[in-house]
Amino acid sequence: MWNEKFGGEDYFYGTQPCQWLVMNRHRFGRGQALAIGDGEGRNGVYLASQGYHTTSLDQSEVGLEKAKRLAAANGVRLTTWHADLADTNLIDDQYDLIAAIYAHLPQPLRATTHAQCASALKPGGLFILEAFHPLQLNYRSGGPKTEDLLYRADAICEELKGLTIVDALEGRTELSEGSGHRGMGYVTRIVARRD
Ligand SMILES: C[S@@+](CC[C@H](N)C(=O)[O-])C[C@H]1O[C@@H](n2cnc3c(N)ncnc32)[C@H](O)[C@@H]1O
Repeated sequence: MWNEKFGGEDYFYGTQPCQWLVMNRHRFGRGQALAIGDGEGRNGVYLASQGYHTTSLDQSEVGLEKAKRLAAANGVRLTTWHADLADTNLIDDQYDLIAAIYAHLPQPLRATTHAQCASALKPGGLFILEAFHPLQLNYRSGGPKTEDLLYRADAICEELKGLTIVDALEGRTELSEGSGHRGMGYVTRIVARRD
């Protein structure tokens, strides 16, 4: 499904990063970053442009090829990791920042992935997530059409065991991300830190 969606010349979610990631740049440091479910790489490329040694992980090889092209066009280095999160073991204490932007994983994979992300952060590391909330089913700006793939903030916070929740927000926002996310939407936004 994702290879098909990313098959066109254009970038389905655009080439600009998620605004929530940009709004958190004052919290950025340096080091290793991982963007899970990074698709065509807009967020991984942004993190690389901010000085992180960044890896974009995705199950779509078509998306990752476009991520490499986007990185080259922006003059940044990006490592790609073609993998299904269901078969992936993240190494503990590895990353200074992990971004999970609209990854929309089903349970129980979502919970195991978030637990792995929490352990994979170094002390001081940041976890930044944006995803659609179940109330997005009332909007037409994109996202999964079934509630099991939509994220409530309290549930995500529960899954990030051991991390300090810095922001846990739910609400309406106007999206302008390629043709994939366009118009008013209802999102969940999390920032968590490993102390
Ligand atoms: C809605 S797209 C978001 C892409 C990107 N994060 C963005 O915001 O532009 C969801 C992405 O998650 C990836 N994905 C979904 N399930 C996955 C899994 N089990 N393992 C790896 N990637 C996955 C898809 O291939 C797709 O690229």
